[in-house]
Amino acid sequence: MNELYITMLMNDHSIIEKALVILERQLQKKKKNWLTIQTLIDVLWDYGETCHNMKEEKVYFPTLLERGMPESGPIGVMLKEHQAERDYLTKFKEFLAKEQKSEEEINQFVTEFSDYANLTKDHIWKENDILYPMGRKFIQPDDVPYLANEFKRIERESLGEGAYTRYKTLVDALEKESGERIDLLASLPTEIIGNMLDALPIEITFVDAEDRVRYFNKLDKDKIFARTLSVIGRLVQQCHPPKSLHLVNKIIQEMKEGKRDQATFWIHFNGMYLFIAYYAVRNENGEYQGVVEMVQDINPYRTLEGEKRLLDEQ
Ligand SMILES: [Fe+2]
Ligand SMILES: [Fe+2]
Repeated sequence: MNELYITMLMNDHSIIEKALVILERQLQKKKKNWLTIQTLIDVLWDYGETCHNMKEEKVYFPTLLERGMPESGPIGVMLKEHQAERDYLTKFKEFLAKEQKSEEEINQFVTEFSDYANLTKDHIWKENDILYPMGRKFIQPDDVPYLANEFKRIERESLGEGAYTRYKTLVDALEKESGERIDLLASLPTEIIGNMLDALPIEITFVDAEDRVRYFNKLDKDKIFARTLSVIGRLVQQCHPPKSLHLVNKIIQEMKEGKRDQATFWIHFNGMYLFIAYYAVRNENGEYQGVVEMVQDINPYRTLEGEKRLLDEQ
């Protein structure tokens, strides 16, 4: 579980990453929307630089150094990268302030933005995956509330009350307005999506908002509960034994009414210990789109203790 201060820093990163991606796509367009570009550069400067980077430079990094993280460690690299980000953004702001932009200047901006975006994405990855986990070993229990409070103070003093929500809403709106909702799955062929779902040690079934079975994984593989193609398109109520029907109906009804998001059960079955879970699937407005059922034999996990960090031989 992440402590609040790490969650705050990582949430900031999400805003920054989203702004970068929308901008990158905007810059690929022939007819560029300069207002959107200007707004996003402002987001990267105002939120990314004066708010987020200052949380790290003025509070988080000094706390780590005070607690014994060596100065020669990753903090020095992070500071250098912050400076490089700052230099790029300063240049971009100067360029955007120009009334007339030549073709050549625009091309140079696009190229340099790409360099800046790569640097910043890489920087975020290093922090999320290396620095923050490493930093946890130095942070003392008393530092945890201190860091979160200081981050809130910097946010308030640099950008005013409610800055995080404001900037998140702005970036989400820009993402939608430009029809650029980031759909990571769109880049994957359905064959790979299917194979990915089959590779998981779980059985998944999706029932749509009209209660009809639309998908299950491991079609031609061994399954805990036998399922054939004939269930596709059938009402879920027709696929369950009568004695569990009232439960199925109750779960679905409560999910449709927005009263429930999940239902879990665990049972003994054929020498396995099955964890069976139903999760409501909703769109971003919270509207019910269906329910996904997950079945897993959790026997192999029940005896786990301590940690396993070494790779076993295959
Ligand atoms: Fe940073
Ligand atoms: Fe950061």
